[in-house]
Amino acid sequence: MTNGFRSSPQVDEAENEADQAEVGVFELVIPRREAALVPGPLRGGRQALADSIRRQLVSNRAVKTNPLKDEFGMIRDEVITLSASEGVTNAMKAFKAAYTGLNDVTVPREWDDKIRAFYADEFLPNLKKNVDGDPVLDVYLPRLIPTRYLQYHYMVQSPMPYKQKGQDLDRTDPSPYGEVHKRYHRGFHDFASRFGFEDVYLIDHETGDIVYSTQKTADLGTSLLHDLRLLVWAGYDKGIGRKGSSDRLQECDPLLLTRGSSSVSEETYQKVATVGEIPEGEGRAFEVNDRMVAVFLDEGEYFALEDSCPHQGAPLSDGMVCGKTVTCSWHGWKFDLGDGQWLDSPHTRVATYPVRVVGDEIQVAVPKD
Ligand code: FES
Repeated sequence: MTNGFRSSPQVDEAENEADQAEVGVFELVIPRREAALVPGPLRGGRQALADSIRRQLVSNRAVKTNPLKDEFGMIRDEVITLSASEGVTNAMKAFKAAYTGLNDVTVPREWDDKIRAFYADEFLPNLKKNVDGDPVLDVYLPRLIPTRYLQYHYMVQSPMPYKQKGQDLDRTDPSPYGEVHKRYHRGFHDFASRFGFEDVYLIDHETGDIVYSTQKTADLGTSLLHDLRLLVWAGYDKGIGRKGSSDRLQECDPLLLTRGSSSVSEETYQKVATVGEIPEGEGRAFEVNDRMVAVFLDEGEYFALEDSCPHQGAPLSDGMVCGKTVTCSWHGWKFDLGDGQWLDSPHTRVATYPVRVVGDEIQVAVPKD
């Protein structure tokens, strides 16, 4: 094998099949020449040749596919086996309880300053190598208390280089989480090293919280379900270039986002729908003055927002409406229907427009460009 994967019976079988297919081609060439004088067998020979080539291509595909299947299958089996073990189950329960307890701790200003310095001086310069443009610091800073607490103690305070901080085996913290970490970290670290895993996570399946990570990178303590920065971190940690991703983030940056103005110098109301056409708890899209506008009805009140999510441009009119907010259907960013503010950042918002009901007409005022 030259592709670095283990050999397997399937691979050998596929290779044999490929060898047979090559033999098949050779054999068919001879009859084809003879068949040039005999039209009947020629057609049969061509068909056989086509079949042989097809088999050969299928074999080639199998040769490349089977090792990958084997590799992923093996990883899956290892993860399932590990997850089912009593030790891991106990560790998960202990880490989850300790992580939840961190919601009650206090994160001093001084820690936040150091976290910020770490992201500015170490994290962002490396991230920049994998994305276009200048990533914006505030987008990446951890916000939740448990995340900040864990990243301060296990990432910022560790003297090890980034991605090697998990090798700081005796690092702990004075909280109950520190006790749990001391009990389990060495074992998980050994497992990851022995089996060649870059990282091992313990993730709360209900919240998506990463309550433990062997490697201790910027995803420690964050949530797979709610923390969108993970999408970009994945690109950084795996060294994958993500063209354009930082451009999109810049659109959401408090300092760079300029699309949130809702002022209307000359209010010109235009009918977009008749009362009853927008169901309660839903949104509909309308084109007004060359702009797409999402009009929502929530608890009997109408709201009009620019119909484009500042994250990646999804139509907000498709989002889920609840409690005077709309949640983008693509990645879950949530916006206040009243002022268009992204709930994760007070500085990022989408444009809002005045909306009113006159008679049975729903009217929206959108400024002309
Ligand atoms: S497009 Fe990603 S949250 Fe809206």
